[in-house]
Formats: sequence, C-alpha cells, structure tokens
Amino acid sequence: MRIISGIQPTGQLHIGNYLGAIKQWTELQNKEECIFFIADLHSLTVPYEPKELQNNILEAAIAYLAAGIDPSKSIFFVQSKVKEHTELTWILNSVCPVGDLERMIQFKEKAKQFKKNINAGLLTYPTLMAADILLYKAESVPVGKDQVQHIELAREIARRFNQRYGKTFPEPKPLLSEGAKIMSLTDPKKKMSKSSGPEGCLFLFDEPETIRKKIMSAVTDTGKEVKFSARTKPGISNLLIVYSLISGKKVKELEGEFKNKNYSEFKKSLAEALVNFLEPFRNKKRELVSRKIYIDEILRMGANKARSLAESTMQEVSSKTGLM
Ligand code: ADP
Ligand code: TRP
Repeated sequence: MRIISGIQPTGQLHIGNYLGAIKQWTELQNKEECIFFIADLHSLTVPYEPKELQNNILEAAIAYLAAGIDPSKSIFFVQSKVKEHTELTWILNSVCPVGDLERMIQFKEKAKQFKKNINAGLLTYPTLMAADILLYKAESVPVGKDQVQHIELAREIARRFNQRYGKTFPEPKPLLSEGAKIMSLTDPKKKMSKSSGPEGCLFLFDEPETIRKKIMSAVTDTGKEVKFSARTKPGISNLLIVYSLISGKKVKELEGEFKNKNYSEFKKSLAEALVNFLEPFRNKKRELVSRKIYIDEILRMGANKARSLAESTMQEVSSKTGLM
C-alpha cells in the first residue's frame, strides 16, 4: 500500500504530535511504502514572513528526521521542489466544483481568521492537497481529524477525474491515527496544542530542566491518590497515559507502583522517565542541526525519487486530458 502525508513547516513538535501521530508514521515506514513531504506551498496561503520560510522548512525537516522519519525507508522531500504538484493542481481545479471548495470548514475558518487576505489559494488549498495525494496514486493518508474533510474531497476529485477521463486514480482514504489524545499540561480538559498555548505543551526537544519544570508544575487534581479517572482526575489521568505510553507499562501497573506515594513523587518519576525517553530525540536533533548539507542532500534525493513517480503520473494525465 502507498501512504502519503504532508507536514506544514510551522511550529515545534510536542509529545501530543509524537504520541498521537508521528510515532504511528515511523511504524508505518517499516510495513508500507511511505511518502512524507513538507507542504511549503500550502503555507503560502496564510500570512507569513518570506525571509523565515527557508529556515522553517529546514527546522521542520530536522524535527521530523529526529522524530524518526527514516529517509532510507520513506521518500521525504519539499513539496515545491516537485513542480508536478502545482501542475496537477491546475488540472484538478478544472474538475472540482467551486461549491465543494466553499463548503470546506478550514476555508470558512481561515476566511474568518484572515478577513483581509481571503486569497484564491486559501480556497483551492484542498485541490493542491488532492494533487499531492493523487500524483503518487496513494491509497491511504494519515492525518488528524481536522483534515478528513479534505481527504474526502480528494476522493471526490479522483472520482470525477476518473469519470471524465477514464480510470486513473485510486480513491484515497484517511488513516486516522489510533494514538492517544494527550491533554494540555496547564489545562487537562483541553487538547495539548500549539495553538492553545505553548505553556501547556511538552515539546519533543525540550531540555531536561524544562521537562522537569513543566511536569512538576502540571495542573493536577484535588485528592492525593495516583489513580486513573478521566472524569474526576483529568490531570493525573493525562500524566498516567503519558507515563504508560513512554514506559510501555499499563496504567494499572503504574497505579500499583505509586499506590502509597503522593503526586509529587509520581511527577518526579514521570519527569525522569520523560527526560530519558526524549534524550535520543534531543541528541539526534543536535547532530542534524550541525549537518545542513546532509539534510539538503536527503531532501534533494527525496525530491528526485518523488519526481520520477510524479512525472509518470503526469504523462498519463496529459495524455488522458488531451494535453499531449
Ligand atoms: P497542533 O494542535 O499542535 O497544531 P496539529 O494540528 O498540527 O497540532 O496536529 C498534527 C498531528 O498531531 C495530527 O495528526 C494530530 O492528530 C496530532 N495531534 C495534535 N495534537 C495532539 C494531541 N494533543 N494528542 C494526540 N495527537 C495530537
Ligand atoms: N493540509 C495538511 C495539514 O495542514 C498538510 C497536507 C498538505 C497534507 N498536503 C497533504 C496532508 C496531503 C496529507 C496529504 O495538516
């Protein structure tokens, strides 16, 4: 099976991103044919600083490589370096009804958020996304819930193209990760998310001192028993889930281990477990930061591999649409 997913070059990765999504991707690489890319073209549709874009792309590449994307197993590249993405977008725009694009929740939200800059790219964002997927005839797309509507539109676009020009594309399906949902450290009723406050996030590359500080001051509940109860003890329950996922121990096992201990002892132990768990990520990142030429080479080779697949699809598309 061929799998594809895009990553926006914005923001730092937190343990919610890792435990909820990236970890599954790194496991998929061992079983399936995976393609991952940095969606720099998509990031142009909202206000950004051009001078910072190259650096953000590099940082995203480093972060995902350090988090476990393995260029010897997956194809990893930058979207704008494979021109066929934009070429196919135009063709797909011509089979996609405007009404479908106007219905997209993300378009409506972004149009509200950026009232002064409702550009056409914001509207056709999903056709570029459909092109990203269909260009490689990918069948499965690991994404978060917020992107499912876009994958459904990509299915619809594939269907319309196939109807009009003959069977060309498989209809891609979203692959929702089964990872746990990690809650904010400062408000355990909210999802850990960079958009709802970086204070609540434990970042993948946080230094040991920061990890200890964030865990020790994580919001917990009244009471003193270390016990799982999502309803009455959301704070402790969230920390128990994190502890369980990084240690491989069951929540019940951890409850037993901390039976006669208080929250502070539990948090200290979790903080040390996290410091150790995240150490290889920090080390890998440190190593990659000093090897920019190596990263450029990975991305260049990834783009070459992607391009050869993309060119072959475009030949077929050009021929079927009468452009060749
Ligand atoms: P954020 O909310 O920090 O902006 P994104 O929306 O960019 O994160 O999500 C990227 C990926 O990480 C998605 O697949 C999403 O499902 C996953 N993810 C994000 N936050 C969490 C979380 N708190 N728990 C589990 N998975 C998460
Ligand atoms: N829109 C996706 C997001 O914001 C990123 C993305 C771009 C993508 N192209 C894609 C994801 C193709 C999956 C497949 O997260």
